[in-house]
Amino acid sequence: MRVDVLHGPNLNLLGEREPAIYGKLTLPEIDSRLVAIGKELSCDVRTFQSNHEGALIDYLHATRRLTDAYILNPAGYTHTSVALRDAVIAVAKPAIEVHLSNTEAREAFRHKSLLADVVMGRIQGLGAQGYEWALRALIAHLYAERNA
Ligand code: DQA
Repeated sequence: MRVDVLHGPNLNLLGEREPAIYGKLTLPEIDSRLVAIGKELSCDVRTFQSNHEGALIDYLHATRRLTDAYILNPAGYTHTSVALRDAVIAVAKPAIEVHLSNTEAREAFRHKSLLADVVMGRIQGLGAQGYEWALRALIAHLYAERNA
């Protein structure tokens, strides 16, 4: 079982970027925790961050036959990228959208997610823990599918 975690633009600066909103953990800290949880649950967790829309889309295309599911935090592209939405539909894998902050409680332009209706579910406002719940939920979903 494999789950790929995609982080969008500016998330490489976690830890120093607006810590009051996004928390103090760095991206490598978040990623290594996800890999460790994956290990405990027999799931190969791979992580990828890019500041480029096309690189995120290329990553989805390249991994679509290698992975079972995605965790997606497209950051600013959540609110703007039709192309990323189309790629998520195209790869046709279960996906959970995660945001560290509660985007609904922020500026109006963050209230709209172009992924909201094409993902399995969404977790936001729980900080880095949101990724962990997403991973556990996807693993449970994949096991349930296998045993169905
Ligand atoms: C974010 C929320 C987005 O609105 C913002 O552009 C980000 C991070 C979050 O994780 O809270 O870069 O996706």
